[in-house]
Amino acid sequence: MLVIENVSKKFAGHNGIINTLEDVNLTIARGEFISLVGPSGCGKSTLLNIIAGLEQASGGRVLKEGAEVREAGPDRVVMFQEAALFPWLKVIDNVEYGMKISGIPKKERREIAFHYLKMVHLTRFASSYPHELSGGMRQRVALARALAMDSDILLMDEPFAALDSQTRSILHIELQEIWRATGKTIIFVTHNVEEAVLLADRVVVMAANPGRIKKEFGVKLARPRDIDNVDLAFVAGQVMQDLKEEVEKVAKAEFDSDWSLKKDTFLPNPDSNLGNGI
Ligand SMILES: Nc1ncnc2c1ncn2[C@@H]1O[C@H](COP(=O)(O)OP(=O)(O)O)[C@@H](O)[C@H]1O
Ligand SMILES: [Mg+2]
Repeated sequence: MLVIENVSKKFAGHNGIINTLEDVNLTIARGEFISLVGPSGCGKSTLLNIIAGLEQASGGRVLKEGAEVREAGPDRVVMFQEAALFPWLKVIDNVEYGMKISGIPKKERREIAFHYLKMVHLTRFASSYPHELSGGMRQRVALARALAMDSDILLMDEPFAALDSQTRSILHIELQEIWRATGKTIIFVTHNVEEAVLLADRVVVMAANPGRIKKEFGVKLARPRDIDNVDLAFVAGQVMQDLKEEVEKVAKAEFDSDWSLKKDTFLPNPDSNLGNGI
């Protein structure tokens, strides 16, 4: 379904060129659920944006069903941490928005929108405005809107990170059901290891500087899964071990680069008698 082949990405930063991604290779089957975890700044969002076609790779390529991805398309829909709904549109019109742009007739798109609103259990709020909803409900509207685009691939960038844990658990159940019902291929970025294991067929751990794939864990637990399950906790513990190592490396690199600065560059020098004569 999706082949990520030697993908690299460089950005020009203040301190020169940053190798955000280097030689990333990943093959994803149709209908697979992949979780992507890694230390902050390792390039998870960048990789997702390259798959979405919102960002161009500096090297390598992404193939979808054998054809190279060159731009954004309705077959790859992205869902972000913030719902980004239009505040002046009712819930139902927000869900319909993408379909309206693609020219789907009113009656048909209303039916589709209701179908997906039902899937996220929000039909009762179809005529509400986003500000009348809780954060969790807004994210469910965003999910319904993404589903209504009927893409084969759903790219989710920390979609539940800003929600409280009870709301998140409800959305985990809903997302598992939706995935089963729709057979979509999902790539789900999260920094929550339990969430990653709960949802995925495969958890991919990334390392930073440069961003690359470190390890993959197949998750063979029966579904539906429960976050308190002992076997799930065991797999999560294994993933956590690898992830922790990478997070610590990033923290150490940041710490070292701060302390390797010359003492007199900007930190007050203890020998300079600052405050003499006051
Ligand atoms: N538009 C950009 N311009 C310059 N550098 C960027 C840009 N986007 C990302 N980066 C660099 O790539 C790194 C990885 O970013 P990102 O993909 O957002 O990481 P993650 O999602 O894993 O936290 C950042 O630390 C930053 O240095
Ligand atoms: Mg990110």
